Amino acid sequence: MDNGKTITTIDTATGQAAPAELSTARVKDIFSQIARKYERFNAVSSFGAYRRWLDGMMRQAPIRPEHDVLDIAGGTGDVSRWVARAFHPRHIQLTDLVPEMLEVARIHFARGGFDGVPVDFDVVDAQNIPYADESYDVITMAYGIRNMPDRPRALAEMYRVLKPGGALVCLEFSTPPNPVWRTLDRFYLRHLIPFWGGLITGDKSGFVYLAKSIQAFPDQRGLARLMEEAGFHDIAWKNYTGGIAAVHVALK
Ligand SMILES: C[S@@+](CC[C@H](N)C(=O)[O-])C[C@H]1O[C@@H](n2cnc3c(N)ncnc32)[C@H](O)[C@@H]1O
Repeated sequence: MDNGKTITTIDTATGQAAPAELSTARVKDIFSQIARKYERFNAVSSFGAYRRWLDGMMRQAPIRPEHDVLDIAGGTGDVSRWVARAFHPRHIQLTDLVPEMLEVARIHFARGGFDGVPVDFDVVDAQNIPYADESYDVITMAYGIRNMPDRPRALAEMYRVLKPGGALVCLEFSTPPNPVWRTLDRFYLRHLIPFWGGLITGDKSGFVYLAKSIQAFPDQRGLARLMEEAGFHDIAWKNYTGGIAAVHVALK
């Protein structure tokens, strides 16, 4: 409770009830600071695994050339670039909460990184999407939902703007089912991620947050349940690197 009102949002670092502003301010602060070093950190810290996970995401994504794709929490545009190259869709709407991340995506666009696919850029909070109902064929989202303090609302918004029959394709860190692998993963998260992050970006705190938010995030089944509660059906997921990451596909 806060001033007599029930809090339904969470602190994304702990999973505990907290005002949304706490997580929103933190995520804006982190990603505006690291925007220009973000891609290098991704490549180094995952030992290149992020490429295999993106490959998997593309294999699972039911995108066709006539589709209009919405990339939520699209950051510097990695997912959108892979979508452009793999499927050449009619149009991509690349969105993110943090303008500095989108600035890097715009630089990639100017350099031809999107293979000639038309891309529009918009600063969008996924918990309040400013687009009409039923306007997109497929939504992609990588490492986004974990950072959102009101996940039910974000998923409901994604459901709203998808066309009937459309799909949400979500890549996120997850929970390895094997206990030994899970222990190693948690050790890596707690000790090595902050180390790599500090070394590459000069600021450790964002990576302490990254590690905490992954540990506080629901497992594969928990995320599928949240999607189901938002209205999605036929939710399936595939684990990558033993479940360190998972790609969920959910239909409207
Ligand atoms: C780890 S990055 C992932 C970026 C990109 N999807 C990728 O795979 O490289 C997480 C992104 O989520 C964005 N984000 C966090 N909260 C958000 C929200 N409420 N709405 C939209 N984007 C959000 C951040 O600004 C950041 O760019």
